[in-house]
Amino acid sequence: MALKTLIIGACGQIGTELTLSLREKYGKDNVIAVDIREGNEELMQSGPFETADATDYKAIEDLVMHYEIDEIYLMAAMLSATAEKFPMRGWHLNMDSLFNVLNLAKDKKVSKVFWPSSIAVFGPSTPQDQTPQTTIMEPTTVYGISKQSGERWCEYYHKKYGVDVRSIRYPGLISYKTAPGGGTTDYAIEIFHEALASKKYTSFLSEETALPMMFMDDAIKATMQLMDAPAENLSIRSSYNLGGISFTPKQLAEEIKKEIADFSIDYAPDFRQDIAETWPSSIDDTFAQKDWKWKHDFDLQKMTKAMLRGLKKQA
Ligand code: SER
Repeated sequence: MALKTLIIGACGQIGTELTLSLREKYGKDNVIAVDIREGNEELMQSGPFETADATDYKAIEDLVMHYEIDEIYLMAAMLSATAEKFPMRGWHLNMDSLFNVLNLAKDKKVSKVFWPSSIAVFGPSTPQDQTPQTTIMEPTTVYGISKQSGERWCEYYHKKYGVDVRSIRYPGLISYKTAPGGGTTDYAIEIFHEALASKKYTSFLSEETALPMMFMDDAIKATMQLMDAPAENLSIRSSYNLGGISFTPKQLAEEIKKEIADFSIDYAPDFRQDIAETWPSSIDDTFAQKDWKWKHDFDLQKMTKAMLRGLKKQA
C-alpha cells in the first residue's frame, strides 16, 4: 500500500512546495494538505485539502485515523519577527503543535515525523562562522527558544519512546511560489519583488549582515532526502545543521544588478537587525553530508536567476 502523508501548515512558504513535491512523488491522493486557511490555487487544485488547527490534538488525530496516515510533516509555525510581537501565541502554536505530532508518534498512530527547526536556535554566544552542529546555544528570540526547546523534545521522544522524528535547522529560505510569513530573513525575498516592480529596495537589515540562506528547491530536496534516509544512518535526532549559501544584503543586491542594471538599494535597519545579529553568518553541515549525503545545488548566482525567472513567469 502506498505511503500516506499528512502535511500540517501545507499552505505556508515551505508547506506549499513540499506538498506539491510529495504529491509528485507519492501520488496526489496519498498526500493530505492541512491548514487553518486555504492556500494558493496551484496547491488547492493539486489534491486533497482539510481545514484544521495544528494545536487541536483531536482534529489532527481524527485526520490521521480517517486517512490512515503513516507520516506527518509539521510545517505550521510562527516565525521570528511575528513571534516577537506575540510571544505567548508564538510559544503556544510552536510547542503545542509539536507535542501533538510527537504524541501521535509515541502512541504509534503514525510511524515517522518531520519537524523543522531553524538557525534561530543559535544566539549571540554561538560561534558565528561555520557554526558547528554542537555548540553553545543561547537563543534570545521567542521563536529561537521554541525551536531549541522543540529540538530537545524531539531527541527526548526519540531516545525515550523510540519516535522516528527527523529535523533540519533550515537557513533563511528563498522562494517565489508562496510569500514567507514574518521572518527575519524575508528581506532576501522582498528584494526580488521590489527589484522587478520598482527597481529599488530599502533593506531592513544592514548592508554587511551575512546570514545563511538557501533556495527552496534545495530545502525541499534536503527534506525529502532526510525522510528517505535509513534510520540507522541518522546520528542526530535533535536537528541537523544545513548550510546553503551565505551572503549579505549588499552582495545580494550586487548579484541582482548583474540582471537588472539600474537596480538600487538603501538600508533602514529595524528591530529585525537585532535578531539577525544574534544568528550565525554561515553553517557547518558536515553531519548532513555524512549521514544522508547532503549537497546543495543553488549558489548565489543560480538562485538569483531562478528567482527572477520564476517571479517574471508568475506576473
Ligand atoms: N527564516 C526564519 C525567520 O527569519 C528563520 O528560521 O524567522
